[in-house]
Amino acid sequence: MPAVTASAPGKIILFGEHAVVYGQPSIAVPVTQVRAKAAVFPNPTGAPDEIWLDAPDIGLHAAASSLGVDHPLVMPLLAVKAALGLTHLPACKIKITSTIPVAAGLGSGAAVSAALARALAGFLGRPLPDDSISTIAFQVDQHYHGTSSGVDNTVIAYAQPVFFVRGQPFQRLTVAQPFQIVIGNTGLHSPTATVVNDLRLRWQAHPETYNPLFVHVGEITCQARALIENGHPLALGPLMNENHALLQQMDVSCPELDNLVQAALNGGALGAKLCGGGRGGNMIALVEEHNGSAVSQALRAAGATHTISTCVA
Ligand code: PMV
Repeated sequence: MPAVTASAPGKIILFGEHAVVYGQPSIAVPVTQVRAKAAVFPNPTGAPDEIWLDAPDIGLHAAASSLGVDHPLVMPLLAVKAALGLTHLPACKIKITSTIPVAAGLGSGAAVSAALARALAGFLGRPLPDDSISTIAFQVDQHYHGTSSGVDNTVIAYAQPVFFVRGQPFQRLTVAQPFQIVIGNTGLHSPTATVVNDLRLRWQAHPETYNPLFVHVGEITCQARALIENGHPLALGPLMNENHALLQQMDVSCPELDNLVQAALNGGALGAKLCGGGRGGNMIALVEEHNGSAVSQALRAAGATHTISTCVA
């Protein structure tokens, strides 16, 4: 059996993070410049179920059996085994690499799960459809986050823009006119589960404060969808600013994110907001062709550790 490789992109949430956990719609798009990759190599001399994992980015070199069944790199493998109704997996070595920043709101966990599941199923000669890959990535996310809305695994497994409402089949989003986004990283690691859980506690204590914020985000997301589908993406800027202000009111932003959002706007962006779980990680800015690099420079001058330019199409 030859080596089999697979990959999955990163993602950004253009509108609706956090509110999506409470039933409001969200819009997410893939970011193909960053990817998680998995390569499965046969090990003809190994025993059944002997799987060696190499993840050099995180310094992990270990037998899957030594990591435990709920390790995030092992769960997707066992899920593939179950989905295919297998009693054993053939001995193999799996190398996992990723250029997606970790704990930064770009979907690195879901992309690693999707790439792993896809590569293993391909190696076994039984490729799984995108909906199975999405389900596997969701199961892993859910195990660690507990409250995952499902938006990350969906946009990453299908690798296309989505309009997503929790618990409903996702809708593909048609981007009538491509547009440019610059992503700026605060460099702060912020586990999504912590921010989601903190917000849940505040919501439980004061639903009357938070429910209107979630509903307002949902309205903005629907307006954004119409602009994207009708070919008016440059008009998304004010909606992004409004969405960011609502995220600030939910207390999921932080000074570093607010600083980068402001720097992007000062640098000529049409709109900007935090992206993903918040309290660190990344923000996004809507730019025009002519000022994308100026906005990237403004972000780096303001402390962004990394910027990525991506075209939403
Ligand atoms: O994984 P992140 O950091 O992009 O955040 C996911 C978006 C949230 O709405 C905050 C959580 C969720 O499960 O939808």
